[in-house]
Amino acid sequence: MQYAPENPQNTDKPLPIDQILCGDNLELIQKLPDCSVQLVITSPPYFQQRDYGGGMGNETEVNEYIDKLLCLFRECIRIVKNDGSIVFNIGDKYKNSNLLLVPYRFALAATETGLVKLVNEITWVKRNPTPRQFRRRLVSSTEPFFHFAKSDDYFYDFKAFLAEKNTPKQRNRKDSTKLGKRYFELITESDLSEAEKTMARRELTEVIQEVLQGQTYDFRMKIRGIHAEPFGGQIGGRTLQLKNKGFTIIRMHGNKLKRDVIETSVAAVKGNKHPAIYPVEIVEEFLHLLTPSGSLVLDPFMGSGSTAVACKKLGRHYIGYDINTTYCEYARQRVSDIPSAELRLFEEQ
Ligand SMILES: C[S@@+](CC[C@H](N)C(=O)[O-])C[C@H]1O[C@@H](n2cnc3c(N)ncnc32)[C@H](O)[C@@H]1O
Repeated sequence: MQYAPENPQNTDKPLPIDQILCGDNLELIQKLPDCSVQLVITSPPYFQQRDYGGGMGNETEVNEYIDKLLCLFRECIRIVKNDGSIVFNIGDKYKNSNLLLVPYRFALAATETGLVKLVNEITWVKRNPTPRQFRRRLVSSTEPFFHFAKSDDYFYDFKAFLAEKNTPKQRNRKDSTKLGKRYFELITESDLSEAEKTMARRELTEVIQEVLQGQTYDFRMKIRGIHAEPFGGQIGGRTLQLKNKGFTIIRMHGNKLKRDVIETSVAAVKGNKHPAIYPVEIVEEFLHLLTPSGSLVLDPFMGSGSTAVACKKLGRHYIGYDINTTYCEYARQRVSDIPSAELRLFEEQ
């Protein structure tokens, strides 16, 4: 197998491509060459959450947990390509009714290595959090996914992210009668002159038609005296329009805003043998965004194999580690049930 990492070291052995290896990730990752992986995406055991029968997560102090995780994180930085990324999903923990902010302690420590930049904290909103009734606090229903990059040149396929959700809005009849209704009311309530109001209504009607015909994705309107001027008060095009015409219309062309939020249900997998599975669809979003087709992805806490499943579905190669033999077996089985996408040969990269 021909393989040329950017900064070769430990290259004498072939990479265990598309394999799930059983063992301690800190030992296994040392066998990978520098700059050999496009993306590390993983979810470590959360602090004092469960016992996976060995490995990490049950340290007595949160600092000990963070230090252990950082040892692995440094290895992840080493093996990631210079245009690669690292995505860590970590859950939080209450101790004596006090939220420890474990994910943020980790993210801060990770950036303090000086070896990565934190690009985004992407919030996973769980549509169906575990239904627990607390009398003195609300149910936690979000978890962060931290996206770190090794350089400013990280691979980023912005168009592919959440692509399927970005088709033009299909508006139903009820929707279309509501569209812009509030802006018409605001124009009437405003202090604009009658001539300005007429022009504002005409342009609002035009943009509504564009949205209904799918030429414009969406829009916002600002009306003088009702909406705040752009912060800082710089004299730009919009500030001038507000001043001179009394209103401005902001058209959103093409895509919906790509926001730092992914909303899904907690994963439900038939015959599940793992207590903490993250949704394959979240991994898929990160694969679209951060990896070209045919590239190599590592999950050092593979668990039930969700990362490998997403890779196989989308034509990426994977390497996975888990310390628990039962989970390794289960993950291998789960992956083998998934039909492969067209995989480019690894040598072709
Ligand atoms: C939160 S789970 C990962 C779940 C996975 N994302 C999924 O969707 O199934 C964490 C996993 O890390 C494994 N683990 C814990 N310590 C480990 C270590 N030192 N080396 C390798 N795996 C470890 C556990 O056995 C567990 O399966």
